[in-house]
Amino acid sequence: MGLSKRTVKFINKKCVGSLAGKTVLITGANGGVGFKTAETMAYLGARVIMACRDLKKAEAAAQSLLDDYPYAQISVMRLDMADFASIDEFAEHLPDVDVFINNAGVFHRPGELTKDGFDLVMGTNYIGVFYLGKKVLPKLEKCGHDVAYINTISIVHKLAKVDLAGFYESKGSYPRSKLCLARYSEYLAAKYSGTNIRVYMDHPGITMTQIASHIFGRWYVLTKLMPFNSVEKSSLSAVWLLTNDVPSGSVVGPGRLFCGWGYPRINKKSKRALCDIDRLIGFTEKEIGNKLPVKRGE
Ligand SMILES: NC(=O)c1ccc[n+]([C@@H]2O[C@H](COP(=O)([O-])OP(=O)(O)OC[C@H]3O[C@@H](n4cnc5c(N)ncnc54)[C@H](OP(=O)(O)O)[C@@H]3O)[C@@H](O)[C@H]2O)c1
Repeated sequence: MGLSKRTVKFINKKCVGSLAGKTVLITGANGGVGFKTAETMAYLGARVIMACRDLKKAEAAAQSLLDDYPYAQISVMRLDMADFASIDEFAEHLPDVDVFINNAGVFHRPGELTKDGFDLVMGTNYIGVFYLGKKVLPKLEKCGHDVAYINTISIVHKLAKVDLAGFYESKGSYPRSKLCLARYSEYLAAKYSGTNIRVYMDHPGITMTQIASHIFGRWYVLTKLMPFNSVEKSSLSAVWLLTNDVPSGSVVGPGRLFCGWGYPRINKKSKRALCDIDRLIGFTEKEIGNKLPVKRGE
């Protein structure tokens, strides 16, 4: 199908740097925003690695990109963010990359657990990213060139509170998981300041994807009447920040209607992201440590 004329115009006008020859790895790239991000990167000449939990879906998505961009370099890898063993395996085979985008995410799944026994939403959107980060960031730091590390958050993190006592409650788990991810990203930006790793947060505003169908439930049909961002427009946050001189630690997403709509720009940070990071990191490490021996001992 290819990118729309508007998107191409935006890219030509606003995305000033080049991605040609860069390798961009995107998690959850077989559908939604991740897939469109992969397409934008392929359009700009980047090599794309689609890291997905379902290889059949990933291969079909890669083929559809190749149909539109026959000269693109697209490959797939298996990665299930809700399974530490899969993350271990993936990290062991991590290829050399210039851009790493943690895009995979889930919304409302009360009662569902990851393979290691965490609440599925918190386990996928935050704990999985944290665990993966511990494995891949040291490798990226040693790779000998600049790397952009992007975590996909959500504007709804502004509605959350990090409450360690109610950490796994299903009520509010999505905004809480994204607030933890935002806070963790700020921690990483500070930790890697002055190194070859730049850390960013991007978000797609409010976009009609599989996830949004969960957000609006049976009212989903009404969303067709609402002027939400197209998936294509939402996918531009990553490409815009990569091709402009955006400082590490920035949040990039749509700039209009409370950051839910429009073309990307640097967003103001939420004050909520200022929760006690040392407590959060310590808590997360302990939670992961508590689960690992169970899994390994099976
Ligand atoms: N849409 C919005 O309005 C919105 C707003 C703010 C933030 N976001 C964030 O944007 C990101 C992309 O979401 P989207 O809107 O494009 O939703 P989507 O269409 O549901 O896509 C989510 C992607 O994540 C993958 N995924 C889910 N669980 C995974 C796991 N355990 N391991 C690996 N991949 C997994 C999905 O794979 P499967 O196809 O196998 O399920 C899919 O490819 C998410 O982080 C989401 O939280 C979205």
